[in-house]
Amino acid sequence: MIFTCYLKEILYKNSVLRKRIIRAEKMEVVSHLAASISHEVRNPLTTARGFIQLLEQSHLSQEKRKQYIRIAIEELDRAQAIITDYLTFAKPAPESVENLNVKTEMERVIDIVRPLANMNSVEVQTSLIPCNVKGERQKLQQCLLNIIKNAIEAMPNGGTLEVYISIEKDQVLIRISDTGVGMTKEQIERLGEPYFTTKGRRGTGLEMMVVYRIIESMGGTIQIASEVNKGTQVSLYLPLTQSLHTPSVEQKHDIFAAS
Ligand SMILES: Nc1ncnc2c1ncn2[C@@H]1O[C@H](COP(=O)(O)OP(=O)(O)OP(=O)(O)O)[C@@H](O)[C@H]1O
Ligand SMILES: [Mg+2]
Repeated sequence: MIFTCYLKEILYKNSVLRKRIIRAEKMEVVSHLAASISHEVRNPLTTARGFIQLLEQSHLSQEKRKQYIRIAIEELDRAQAIITDYLTFAKPAPESVENLNVKTEMERVIDIVRPLANMNSVEVQTSLIPCNVKGERQKLQQCLLNIIKNAIEAMPNGGTLEVYISIEKDQVLIRISDTGVGMTKEQIERLGEPYFTTKGRRGTGLEMMVVYRIIESMGGTIQIASEVNKGTQVSLYLPLTQSLHTPSVEQKHDIFAAS
């Protein structure tokens, strides 16, 4: 009996290990593909384009106009940073690791995706607390953006996107939930595999791979819970570096209604 359990355990560990190796090998190949660069750059370029397009509206206040220009420039800078990042990909050491306030970074990402959420009639609910993790700002933003973009895309007919940050022991929990199409068990298992997409030509299936790579490099883990036609919950656990947290005062629940 004990031996059977032991054998099962070994077989399970082997299969997990094999999957990891296959995934690592595929990642290696992908990381050399110029295609990933163009894909990564597409996000900020699309956002910049969107905000420049918004400038055409005649009724815009001076303040809004300035804000849109600022975001567009920041996004173009980000595109440039991504290219630099990929070109220096061979360098093993992360370059600009700093203390990042997850709440601030998340708010920035939510600002960026708000137009997309509105377009899909997605209501964004947030419950965020300030807390610090160590990492590269642009990579963390990229990671949050990829997950949130997927969540919104999973709700083409509207729904609720919930973004939640909390501290669990010595870890920061970032939970992003949607009420969208959900995933089957097989789809969950393939998440993070290069080129896995259910979006046909519209998707490249590279964004979740990038998410896994970034979270791993930050010493974190990812948990996925999903049910078909119910929705998906992506939980990121990252090592907490220094708490700025006073829950009773800071925790708040903002609701941004989709317009
Ligand atoms: N929140 C979610 N709800 C349902 N399915 C999801 C969700 N997030 C990811 N997926 C599934 O995982 C697949 C891979 O996601 P990934 O972001 O890597 O690529 P993509 O979204 O298909 O394409 P791209 O990101 O290039 O637009 C998606 O095609 C989708 O099937
Ligand atoms: Mg995606």
